[in-house]
Amino acid sequence: MHSHLTYAQPFVSEKSTALTGNVQVAGDKSISHRSLILGSQIIGCVRISGLLLGDDVMNTKKALQQLGVSIIQEGDVWVVQGRGVGGLGEPSGVLDMGNSGTGARLMMGLVASYPFTSFFMGDESLSKRPMQRVMTPLSQMGAQFQAHSGNTLPLSITGLASLMPITYELPVASAQIKSALLLAGLNTPGITTIIEPIATRDHTERMMEYLGLGVTRTPLPTGGFSISITGQPPQTFQETELHVPADPSSAAFPLVAAAIVPGSNITIANVCMNPLRTGLFTVLGRMGADISYSNQRTACGEPVADITLRYRPLKAVEVEDAIAPSMIDEYPILAVAAACADGISIMHGLGELRVKESDRLQAIADGLLACGMKAEIQGDSLIVHGTSGAVIGGGRVVTHFDHRIAMAFLVLGLNATKPITVDDSRAITTSFPTFTECMQSLGASILPERRSVRRIVPDHPLVIAIDGPAASGKGTLARKLADHYGLPYLDTGSIYRAVGMRLVHNHLDPHDVNAAIEAAKQIDEHDFANPQLRQERVGQAASIISAIAEVRAILLDFQRQFAATHKGAILDGRDIGTVVCPNADLKLFLTATLDARAQRRHEQLQGQGIEVVFDSVKRDLIERDTRDSKRHTAPLTAASDAIHLDTTDLNIADVFLQVVELIEARKAIKAA
Ligand code: S3P
Repeated sequence: MHSHLTYAQPFVSEKSTALTGNVQVAGDKSISHRSLILGSQIIGCVRISGLLLGDDVMNTKKALQQLGVSIIQEGDVWVVQGRGVGGLGEPSGVLDMGNSGTGARLMMGLVASYPFTSFFMGDESLSKRPMQRVMTPLSQMGAQFQAHSGNTLPLSITGLASLMPITYELPVASAQIKSALLLAGLNTPGITTIIEPIATRDHTERMMEYLGLGVTRTPLPTGGFSISITGQPPQTFQETELHVPADPSSAAFPLVAAAIVPGSNITIANVCMNPLRTGLFTVLGRMGADISYSNQRTACGEPVADITLRYRPLKAVEVEDAIAPSMIDEYPILAVAAACADGISIMHGLGELRVKESDRLQAIADGLLACGMKAEIQGDSLIVHGTSGAVIGGGRVVTHFDHRIAMAFLVLGLNATKPITVDDSRAITTSFPTFTECMQSLGASILPERRSVRRIVPDHPLVIAIDGPAASGKGTLARKLADHYGLPYLDTGSIYRAVGMRLVHNHLDPHDVNAAIEAAKQIDEHDFANPQLRQERVGQAASIISAIAEVRAILLDFQRQFAATHKGAILDGRDIGTVVCPNADLKLFLTATLDARAQRRHEQLQGQGIEVVFDSVKRDLIERDTRDSKRHTAPLTAASDAIHLDTTDLNIADVFLQVVELIEARKAIKAA
């Protein structure tokens, strides 16, 4: 998986045979963030093993370094030189938390108790997530905020050397808010108390206890806790070790994969078994999964075990809202298990999923629908209709740069009749950078899209090249022929537009030759169906990049490969017959008088509800014709062996019939 790539990396997963073996999954994300942050708060040094090397944690590491903390890697161990409570310095630059809500919110709590201003930013997804939930209590303690749109990143926070300790009851069950307040309270004179009516993951409390930054906890009748921290504790020098166990939220993916692929039997070592994280394992058990635990132990204050899962058919389940906090990140993968189970599953209390890395509730439902499943959202509940293992698949899932949506649907593809594609896998590096390798080592077929695409090979490979001036009817004819012969259709206009679209969506300048070249290299057939291809600004970008020789060369290659790999195709557009496919079975050059073409274009635009006067359509066409015949790169010329077809007095049905006759004649010659 490659997080550094600017362009989407679609991945495909295909039906796989039994998954077997022992695997390690990535270190726990929550505990990794906390080990760096709390490590910085002791006086002395913490040696951390098993740290998650995902992007989210690396961003927290960098932010701490910007606050003056030394963090270095010695082989597999990360060494944090703690500066003690109150020992941080003004950050050297903007703190970029990337994709991580945990990183952003915990670090905001940490810097709130310092008399300087810190600036926070994040990626597109993080910039949409609500920050008011931490801003409100931290403001009550005395910190001041300036936030984009009032409650999102980018924001600045100006802290105080002496915050006010408060008692705060969490309005939403969120370990991030609780942890932000514990970190602020750590450097606040007096006792800060957080009341959580519903218990949420308690890694911060456990690690604070382990490191001697004591907190006290009192259970509440509601099932939650009242947690108090006495700030600015007396500290002595210490050297200590932290072992980050494997992440149960990452283990969830191979475990559910084994739970849905018949015959599977896998073991994952050293998984964090904190009861506030293991809701999914409980629910899988209720669904009938054969899940067992061995080697149970405690490491650095956290329970840990090895988990074995043997395939057994799953049955539907109803999941009550009370269990949600202990599996809040696991609903995408639980929905996948439910899609493969027998019966209708219902999951309640999922409101918080709307403000995760994406609107996960919607993304799950949309993804399931795209894969031929039935799913509905009712209020905060998700209903998934199980298929008893007969998942259709074949969908292209929109991930919204959400790692868990990407991984969940790649898992679903392992038991689907048709392969499942996720539109972008890059976000996976935020939490589980070795996901693909881990899954592959168990026998899962998960690959970058291009390598796994299977082509349909028709009996008689046929390449038909259609060219001609604007509005001569190329596209309409090409589509009709493609339908008739069951051949794939490629129009050059869409290729350039697809490249233009990538640039536009990534906010890149189409005049930037290198960016255009990179975008051309990433060209993806699936983009051709994207309705955004028709956007005006995409069209403009397409026209700019189509004049770049390097881009044309890359796309030329793409077009040739398209015809070759599909073993036949209908292609239309500029220089198809002359340059792209000089050996096409049939080359057509469509013409029609200017008036006839203007008439057609005018009708077409009116049909799309676009009101334009005929004369201006005609003027545009005259301009296009002049540009097309004079242009330097790829001027409009017919191949010497092209068949010219004047369509002025013909309707599309006539043109089509004439061309079919021509093709049948060519086919007969070819077969002979
Ligand atoms: C986390 C808490 C949860 C969880 C997130 C990690 C943490 O978020 O979804 O992935 O490490 O504290 P909320 O606190 O927003 O529920």
